[in-house]
Amino acid sequence: MKSVLVIGSGGRCHAIVDALHRSPSVGKIYCAQGNPGIAQLAEPVPCKETDIETLRDWAIEKHIDLTVVGPEVPLAMGIVDEFRKAGLAIFGHTKSATRIESSKSFAKVVMQKAGVLTAAYRPFTDYDEALQYVVSRPLPAVIKYDGLAAGKGVVVAGTIEEAKAALQDMLANNTFGSDKVIIEDYLEGPEFSLMCFVSGRQVVAMPPAQDHKRAFDNDKGPNTGGMGAYTPLPFITKEDEQFAIEHIIQPVADLMADEGCPLSGVLYGGLMKTKDGIKVIEFNARFGDPETEVVLPLLESDIYPMLYNVATGGELPSLSWSKKAALGVVLASKGYPGHYDKGAVITGAESFEGIIYHMGTKQENGQLLTAGGRVMMAVAVADSIVEAHRQVYGQLPQIHCPNLFYRNDIAHQALDRTQQPVILDGKLMSQQIKEELHRQVEQLTNAGNRAPALAVILVGENPASKTYVNGKIKACAATGIQSHLVALPESATEQELLQHIETLNQDSTIDGILVQLPLPKHINPDNVINAIAPEKDVDAFHPLNVAELWNGKPGLVPCTPQGIMYMLKSENIQLDGKVAVVVGRSNIVGKPIAKLLLDQNATVIMAHSHTKDLESITRMADILVVAVGKKHCIGPQHVKQGAVVIDVGINRDTDGKLYGDVDYEKVRPLASYITPVPGGVGPMTIAMLLENTLQCYKQRNNIK
Ligand code: AMP
Ligand code: GLY
Repeated sequence: MKSVLVIGSGGRCHAIVDALHRSPSVGKIYCAQGNPGIAQLAEPVPCKETDIETLRDWAIEKHIDLTVVGPEVPLAMGIVDEFRKAGLAIFGHTKSATRIESSKSFAKVVMQKAGVLTAAYRPFTDYDEALQYVVSRPLPAVIKYDGLAAGKGVVVAGTIEEAKAALQDMLANNTFGSDKVIIEDYLEGPEFSLMCFVSGRQVVAMPPAQDHKRAFDNDKGPNTGGMGAYTPLPFITKEDEQFAIEHIIQPVADLMADEGCPLSGVLYGGLMKTKDGIKVIEFNARFGDPETEVVLPLLESDIYPMLYNVATGGELPSLSWSKKAALGVVLASKGYPGHYDKGAVITGAESFEGIIYHMGTKQENGQLLTAGGRVMMAVAVADSIVEAHRQVYGQLPQIHCPNLFYRNDIAHQALDRTQQPVILDGKLMSQQIKEELHRQVEQLTNAGNRAPALAVILVGENPASKTYVNGKIKACAATGIQSHLVALPESATEQELLQHIETLNQDSTIDGILVQLPLPKHINPDNVINAIAPEKDVDAFHPLNVAELWNGKPGLVPCTPQGIMYMLKSENIQLDGKVAVVVGRSNIVGKPIAKLLLDQNATVIMAHSHTKDLESITRMADILVVAVGKKHCIGPQHVKQGAVVIDVGINRDTDGKLYGDVDYEKVRPLASYITPVPGGVGPMTIAMLLENTLQCYKQRNNIK
């Protein structure tokens, strides 16, 4: 059994150690310095990755059979040269070959000589000359620091101001310690990473993967070391892959051999599929991070012979890879890639079903703490990207830490367009309904009829109630329905309110009556609802209307459930045979929507926010209706991939903003249809109120 030393400490090294751990050839694994995750598989060696001589002496003393270098810094310092001088087998490029990564201008020259396509560029050392060049070229300008910068030395400047700031940083302020940049043309297209084992002229490719460099969703925010990755890539064909190997990786390997600095490690092509073909964005001289964390879990072959033969110039074996998909999401410290705090406690990671690769963590007094910018990566291997995506995002809410964030859209380029949810735009739909109602009301009044009329009763000063009442009155105005506001003081007695209702019941010019809920505590809402004449009960809360609904001959249907059914119908969402879960059991939403869904042959499950193991029940839902009035009580862990998600909740938080019962941002990537808050169900409820008013009017006046 072989003993192996891995040098490095992040998620990439954890994945390499993991692959070595699966190798039948490997016995003891050491890692310098490792991290708490790696320490479960390898014995930690307390020596810095840059302390080359100590590492070399240690490897000799321990009779290490193979050393594997993870990060670029020791490679660029010449660790491979030192080890080989001492007769040790080491996987990684020599200092001179590592220039393919450590010097952008060297890489550009290699590409030119090898005839490999890349963006046109110019090198600069002088701020003024560089700026002049930027001004003379079309924007955006891509400004790259000419050295190692942990993936953060590239600025895509969309404006001259941004270019100035970047040049100032890289040339005038010397942020990274050198004084050279290259400025290159901006390329467009999907990016992918092709990592290959290369030994001299021999090349063996790994499956292509895609990284997500920007810090925030929708590829916004600063460049980072990488926020997530996945493989396979549906937009990269076998032919693309073959082209990249034959026309990019192979010629570069050959040229490096010709130039006397043969490769002996991983050549990482950061590639872009532009409309003019596949071009090189950058080369790296090592495994990519976080690509390695999704690629190596798919390796079915023994990794040891490959690493050893690359290190020693032997013949490279072929590798077999699982056909499955892998997707990983990086959990990073808030503030990363800028300033961030360390030492926040992480809990729940141990129960993640999948792989957790540690990046920057620390174990202290039995607790797992954050100890870096990128902290850990949660990876799932599954039959498809969609399934891997669901597995990771479904479980991330179980990992708790006050100082972590992650991107919600890893693999967005792969998740088929049809997987992007349709946003059920209640505002737009209700607008169309109102226009149609307006036409109908106009026809009626043109024919000499009086306009339909709705009486709205408001008791007291509740600000939310006032807002709702105003909205309803405005909606009436937009459709030509007359509205009569009856505003009573908070002190009004139940008796007074009931008298007002009775008067309106008798008034033949009033078609609909609604009482805005909630009512002051001294008034019993049941008595009030019971007092409204059933044929004027536009909210359909009266026991007679409720009974008719449940008896299957509804006259008036409550507005919110009716609005939801309207949305489902107008999107042609199939209900027959589907599982609908209704969370919330109120008389005005939960129960009636359950009945209406049942009428459409859906199987309906009713639950509430305290239902035991709610997650496993809501995850059965093809159609999930949530009406509990509790901000974000439904997260991605509750939702099955492809579900229709209807959010009835409107919660105003202390920040004054409106939130739904569903954590919209996190749930959206899983849903096939989803209602936003505000702008989803709310406007539909009002539109149905107007529909009901017109219906009452027609019935009372015998108009078809
Ligand atoms: P690099 O560190 O060279 O991989 O660059 C970081 C990121 O900047 C890349 O992943 C691209 O998204 C972007 N980038 C770099 N060069 C270009 C280019 N010439 N055109 C467009 N985007 C680029
Ligand atoms: N994933 C980008 C890199 O490893 O540089």
